[in-house]
Amino acid sequence: DGQIITIPVVVHVIYSNSQENISMAQIQSQIDVLNEDFRRTNSDATNKWSQAADTQIEFKLANVDPNGNSTNGVTRKSSTRTSWGTNDAMKKASQGGVNPWNAAEYLNMWVCNIGGGILGYAQFPGGSAATDGVVMSPQYFGSSDKGSGFYLSAPFDKGRTTTHEVGHFLNLRHIWGDGGCSVDDFVSDTPTSDAANYNCATGHVSCGSEDMVQNYMDYSDDACMNLFTTGQKNRMRAVLDPGGSRRSL
Ligand code: ARG
Ligand code: ZN
Ligand code: CA
Repeated sequence: DGQIITIPVVVHVIYSNSQENISMAQIQSQIDVLNEDFRRTNSDATNKWSQAADTQIEFKLANVDPNGNSTNGVTRKSSTRTSWGTNDAMKKASQGGVNPWNAAEYLNMWVCNIGGGILGYAQFPGGSAATDGVVMSPQYFGSSDKGSGFYLSAPFDKGRTTTHEVGHFLNLRHIWGDGGCSVDDFVSDTPTSDAANYNCATGHVSCGSEDMVQNYMDYSDDACMNLFTTGQKNRMRAVLDPGGSRRSL
């Protein structure tokens, strides 16, 4: 069991209208959700699964930019493009996006309208530094529990999309392993499951045991999710601890 690891975050907001240019308060509400979810101080935590864990990972908006200047940890860019897809265009200035800050030093988050009903997507450890980070659509970034007037869309309005994507960024797979009962998520304390669960399928059984639909790495609605497990904690910390591929963060 280690120390608290704090990851500096930069949020690149790319907007085509004023709604998408989300407020600093909405951005901070997302950072607050990440800290609560990863430290298991979320107010909706329950005792249903005894393997629920405090990952001892925290997040803070960067206060120094790559040139050594002070920053609020947010960049903003106006664009005429209204949907960005999932081919990483938002990460490339040459394609109208914003280049990442040094991925060895920052967790880059792009907030732009992805389109196609996609809430967010992430790059796993080990990929190109030029595209490293997570992407979320603005209406799923932040929490309606933490302020008013935010641009958010229920039932994905409690910041859990970013919790899920940062789980991928730190090497977590979907809890069903993206396959049937013989496919694993490489975490021993998450029950095997045969498919994603949607909405809030509490009590759903697959592969001979109850699915952990409350896990951030399932596809449940935000209000249904409330834990990472000890096994997921260990898998995430393995990429951040000495020798891990995201050690420098
Ligand atoms: N990558 C997933 C998607 O876009 C994110 C699922 C997030 N789930 C949630 N309850 N917020 O489909
Ligand atoms: Zn996912
Ligand atoms: Ca498992």
